[in-house]
Amino acid sequence: VRIAILGVGRIGSHCARRFIASGKHEVRLAYLHDRERLDALAQSLGPQASVVPPAEAVHGSELVVLSVPWDGIGDWLSQAGSLAGKIVIDTCNQFGTISLPQAGETAAAHNAARMPGARYTKSFNTLTAQFQADAAARPKDQRIVQWVCGDDAEAKRVVAGLLEDCGYVPVDLGGTAAAAVMESPRRAGAVYGEEYRAGDVPAVLAALRAGRPIPPPPGYG
Ligand SMILES: NC(=O)c1ccc[n+]([C@@H]2O[C@H](COP(=O)([O-])OP(=O)(O)OC[C@H]3O[C@@H](n4cnc5c(N)ncnc54)[C@H](OP(=O)(O)O)[C@@H]3O)[C@@H](O)[C@H]2O)c1
Repeated sequence: VRIAILGVGRIGSHCARRFIASGKHEVRLAYLHDRERLDALAQSLGPQASVVPPAEAVHGSELVVLSVPWDGIGDWLSQAGSLAGKIVIDTCNQFGTISLPQAGETAAAHNAARMPGARYTKSFNTLTAQFQADAAARPKDQRIVQWVCGDDAEAKRVVAGLLEDCGYVPVDLGGTAAAAVMESPRRAGAVYGEEYRAGDVPAVLAALRAGRPIPPPPGYG
């Protein structure tokens, strides 16, 4: 898959490394401010990585990862141009002051509405970048879950494949309206901020479907 990364910071650079390490994908690293840093990263990633402005990155890609601080989302979206028809993975958490979700609205539903026509999904957002990077190298039986939400089933299927390529267990949590449990803050009854593994998934999904609080993970040391 040709992948544009809008915001190549802690999470965006981790995604780029994992996509390239899989040997299956190309990444277009987009910059707003700091091109030099991305040139160095692209060089270390090899010929499947390039550095381009946001609109060019989007134009040449089927899938777009948006991974910027919440208050920068508007700037990036206006620089990127239309995302219509592109599969989007939004990693952004609502730590900000601009364009916050309304009461009862998930951050995922809020952001999906800011990208008309995009095939919106949300993932890579519940655990720190360092933890995600460390966990991606684990043997298969210790892999962590990366949750995905979105309203386009085929887009989620593509994203699940990417997550597997990155070394994770992808799990579909449902539509954007059901995404609150994978959004900040960390709290009892939600998956945000917690390490879950494949064996924990049936109980999580059963609780979600029944409208019960999600059980905590066993506490992986
Ligand atoms: N860090 C984590 O552990 C973590 C974990 C899960 C989810 N997230 C979420 O994922 C998103 C990205 O997090 P991150 O920690 O990877 O971000 P980051 O490293 O702080 O920033 C990512 C990129 O966004 C651009 N940027 C920084 N400040 C900006 C601003 N004020 N306005 C516009 N662009 C700005 C910069 O690119 P340029 O220099 O090219 O402009 C930067 O490289 C956030 O929404 C965060 O909540 C983070």
